[in-house]
Amino acid sequence: MHRSKCMLLFGATGDLAQRMLLPSLFGLCADGLLPSHLRIVATARSEMDDAAYATFAKAALERAIDAERLKPAQVDRFLKRLTYVAVDASDQSQFQKLAAAMGPEDEERSIFLSTAPSLFEQTIVGLASAGLAGPKSRLALEKPLGHDLASSLAINAAVAALFPENRIFRVDHYLGKETVQNLLALRFGNALFEPLWNAVGVDHVQITVSETVGLEGRHGFYDGAGALRDMVQNHMLQLLALVAMEPPADFNATEVRDEKVKVLRSLRRIDASNAAASSVIGQYRAGAINGAPVAGYADELGKPSNTETFVALKAHVDNWRWKGVPFYLRTGKRLGARQTEIFIQFKDVRHSIFARRGAVIQPNKLVIRLQPDENIRMLVMAKEPGLDRDGIRLREVPLDLGLANAFADSRRRIAYERLMLDLIDGDPTLFVRRDEVEAQWEWIDGIRDGWKANNMTPHPYPAGSWGPSPAMGLTERDGVTWRD
Ligand code: BG6
Repeated sequence: MHRSKCMLLFGATGDLAQRMLLPSLFGLCADGLLPSHLRIVATARSEMDDAAYATFAKAALERAIDAERLKPAQVDRFLKRLTYVAVDASDQSQFQKLAAAMGPEDEERSIFLSTAPSLFEQTIVGLASAGLAGPKSRLALEKPLGHDLASSLAINAAVAALFPENRIFRVDHYLGKETVQNLLALRFGNALFEPLWNAVGVDHVQITVSETVGLEGRHGFYDGAGALRDMVQNHMLQLLALVAMEPPADFNATEVRDEKVKVLRSLRRIDASNAAASSVIGQYRAGAINGAPVAGYADELGKPSNTETFVALKAHVDNWRWKGVPFYLRTGKRLGARQTEIFIQFKDVRHSIFARRGAVIQPNKLVIRLQPDENIRMLVMAKEPGLDRDGIRLREVPLDLGLANAFADSRRRIAYERLMLDLIDGDPTLFVRRDEVEAQWEWIDGIRDGWKANNMTPHPYPAGSWGPSPAMGLTERDGVTWRD
């Protein structure tokens, strides 16, 4: 695939465009990484001309990017690439305006759909009717790609009718995060970990995505989704797949995604028979975040609701490598801290030679932290200094790989910079393939059916806590404590 000469951005006035997409394209442009003649055609329903959109885009950049990075000449150069075309996606005839703005049909183009899922199908049909779905177009789709397996199959089928799979780029912005890619570097760029990265060496894995934010004005969407579909179906299952997958033969789109999908298909089903024992759901009540009072979910929403804002799961990857190793997942809104991390606890030493000298040995742990800071930390046992007259004391000490320090001279990019650039370059390695999304939904649907069959409703938890207390029970039954 060649580099794109034109990018078409649907949803160009939306929240994602303002917070992530425009700032990412600007970052790439300022660093000279965009193809020199790349034009960006922005489209949304609102009527405005190019100048008004440039003003809109500039204001978005000013909100999202530190002032010292916004050099006026670079901003101007970026804004010059933008044109704006107002399109009402429900009116097929309007797509011709886009074709006219996008230039010659034989040029490679990237189309990014950041619109409400309800507009997906008509947008794709509109693109095709205007000749914009030809062999030179590639299509990026933002989540949510459906709300269950059936709706996801329908979207995938509609897209597949017009675009071949190798031209479909399903976005999961977690795959654009530097530390997520670093997980692959850690696993497959070092000889040290892989021999222990299995049921012989690993006791259990915890994946936590904890957020302090609440609804953030997304009432309509979130209440119909909930934490399982909003976070686990996509981001957390992708993290799990990267932790658990076999080494791909090569870092390319086919090999990496082949290995991920095998993991997703090996997930032990959670359904009516085991949902109550393997999952806990919660919903936040009023509380305090960083000392400031915040309202409960139902108050924020303005009505009572049974939507979960917290979910904890005990998952298993039923294959040779991971036999018997629990993967505990949890995510929630309005929790005590913003913290996203993968935690791997290794097995105890086989035999402690220090036991008779009173030393307690903790198992080794590896913490891969994605947010708020990015770092990798290995916890190992070391001897406390001293003459040991009263016994030997061992203490857990961290071996830190602080990425911010190790790579102090490189700017931390937002995930979408990487993804937009890969889209423009036509590299789908960090995008999600159809079979992955469908395997993800299949597993998630089983859990939701299990909740329904067991009449499970969310346990309340105060905003600012670590979730409802039964979530502690989920791990404590196995003698495991969540890492807070
Ligand atoms: C989005 C979810 O996909 O990811 C949001 O819809 C969530 O609810 C967000 O807040 C989290 O992303 P990040 O990058 O802030 O961890």
